[in-house]
Amino acid sequence: MSDLTQPVKSALSERFGEQLAVESALPGLEELSRLARRSVHRRYLARDVAPDLLRLLCACALSAPSKSDLQQADILIIRDKTRQRAIADLLTEMPWVTEAPVFLVFLANGRRLQQISQLRGKPFPNDHLDLFFNATVDAAIVLATFLRAADAVGLGCCPISVIRDHARVIGEMLALPDKVVPVAGMTVGWPADKGGITPRLPLDLTLHEERFEEGDLAAQIDAYDHRRAALRPYRNQRQPERLGRAEFYGWSEDKARQYAIPLRADFGTFVRGKGFRLD
Ligand SMILES: Cc1cc2nc3c(=O)[nH]c(=O)nc-3n(C[C@H](O)[C@H](O)[C@H](O)COP(=O)(O)O)c2cc1C
Repeated sequence: MSDLTQPVKSALSERFGEQLAVESALPGLEELSRLARRSVHRRYLARDVAPDLLRLLCACALSAPSKSDLQQADILIIRDKTRQRAIADLLTEMPWVTEAPVFLVFLANGRRLQQISQLRGKPFPNDHLDLFFNATVDAAIVLATFLRAADAVGLGCCPISVIRDHARVIGEMLALPDKVVPVAGMTVGWPADKGGITPRLPLDLTLHEERFEEGDLAAQIDAYDHRRAALRPYRNQRQPERLGRAEFYGWSEDKARQYAIPLRADFGTFVRGKGFRLD
């Protein structure tokens, strides 16, 4: 019998730079292996995704847990090429949005609950930040579950949060009513490449026991930058004309540069404009 622990161990070692103990008698090793080596896919074959398959995957995704069983996440499927193209035209830096056979939008729906309160003639005193937060968390869990379901059948996906850079225009295109906002889009298709493991921060930084411990952040980040650069170096530096050229360009340099320019500063205004109260 083949050793099912090996793919899990080797994927996680590449991901975290650490050898994890994996029991050979553990059930579900194939699923763990799939999770450990998963990646986004941004290149797709020119092959359709059957509507029934998509519906099946959406049903599996919407089987995800939901805060208080409130069911505040929706999925919007875009198959119409004109509509998809109109969205893609706003995101020219991401050609995979044009090329994907299907585009989905994961929605936080804080509207239905309020409508239900009205239908049942009840007061609704909980119109505050928690409504937005719960709906957004539910949508994020549904999105993650969709990724897992799609991966299981061999489809490739890439979440697209950049649609929020154009939230108002896209909201109008998709006829999103008050208290329904996009959390992220997603390209879906049959992958044209294998995808690769993107190393993650060491578990020493992101996994805490009993109490929050930051440890030696600077040293851990340096080590991560170098481990990652050896496996997946960046091809381009961000904004070299403004921020200069770095001799060594690691993940932390890239992320610091990414967040050195204002991003989506108007998203709060959009969300408030959609009727969510964020206090
Ligand atoms: C909520 C969310 C939004 C994302 N938005 C984008 C996006 O707008 N464009 C894109 O190309 N990738 C996007 N991604 C993909 C990430 O860039 C990707 O997950 C990350 O680089 C790590 O790669 P991996 O998923 O293959 O491990 C997003 C991922 C998540 C979870």
